[in-house]
Amino acid sequence: MTVAVRSFAKINLGLYIGAARADGFHDLRTVYQTIALHDVIRVGIERNPGRGSGIEILCTNKDPRVPLDASNTCYRIAERVMTELGVRGRVSIAIEKRLPVQGGLGAASSNAVATMVAMEIALKKKLSGVARLRIAAEVGSDLPLFLVGGTSLGVGRGEEVYPLVDLPTIPMVVVTPEVGVSTPRAFADWDAIAKRGQRLTEPPASDRLFEVGCALSAWLTDSNKGGYPNTGASAKGGSRGEKLLLDLVRTGIGNDFERVVFPEYPELRDIKGALERAGAKYASLSGSGSTLYGLFRSPADAARAASRLLKQGLKAVATSTLTRQQYWKRILDC
Ligand code: C5P
Repeated sequence: MTVAVRSFAKINLGLYIGAARADGFHDLRTVYQTIALHDVIRVGIERNPGRGSGIEILCTNKDPRVPLDASNTCYRIAERVMTELGVRGRVSIAIEKRLPVQGGLGAASSNAVATMVAMEIALKKKLSGVARLRIAAEVGSDLPLFLVGGTSLGVGRGEEVYPLVDLPTIPMVVVTPEVGVSTPRAFADWDAIAKRGQRLTEPPASDRLFEVGCALSAWLTDSNKGGYPNTGASAKGGSRGEKLLLDLVRTGIGNDFERVVFPEYPELRDIKGALERAGAKYASLSGSGSTLYGLFRSPADAARAASRLLKQGLKAVATSTLTRQQYWKRILDC
């Protein structure tokens, strides 16, 4: 039996980098949001011991940037899932790659979580919720968010995730430039500017993360203007989504990676500008990039912007964010 699972992408709504830790990681704060763009993962498991054991990775559309060896996140999670469940067998994992590699959309992390979900179905065995999160965090900081889906808060090195009240579905445009950005390199560049003292005028990293936590919380509870917490009711004279977008812009929540990635790849700053000129209410780099996204008031606005950006030669696609419910409903719907 082969089990097919959609492996959705994520964006970061704000990302703040704290101090480098003794383990080489950085503390951070971010709001993760799953979106409708996806890869497809197909998993088959042969439990006949006569056929041996092992893990085989295949990329159906032969994207040369997808590793097919033990370094692949799908391979790494498959190994752990087999051990945790105490089963032996041959696992074949086929990746249909549609999302950009090294794009800041969490594709490799999402592929791994989709593999875990598919393996549990194929084996008719369940891991505990805690085991899933632990295994996911062992493979990478950006995996656990895909076990939550929808809107979630990421703390620690990003692996500690908490579900937030879902934002409504927001129309968006995603632009995927040709370049790939290395996340470890982007963190190292961040350390380099911190060391050079370019941020001496800023508060210490821990105070800054606290400030950011307050800004995020205020935005999501809608209490920053002395109003009542966000109860999901429509705002007067506009949709709740539209109001949240305006508030997001007002809070000034942004992505720290832009400060190191834009000087290195100036064309990415230009794409953010192009998204804003095309009508995005909020535009940002996702993760360490290279993907940029823009959030729009309506699907029609997003579609118009995407075709305008396509005419400018950019790889732009109109899509939308996915609530937690939509995420879990659609994950097996392929
Ligand atoms: O956890 P993940 O495998 O995605 O991390 C890849 C690399 O990115 C780490 O080895 C580390 O260099 C860097 N990283 C970091 N701080 C984080 C997450 C990742 O420095 N919070």
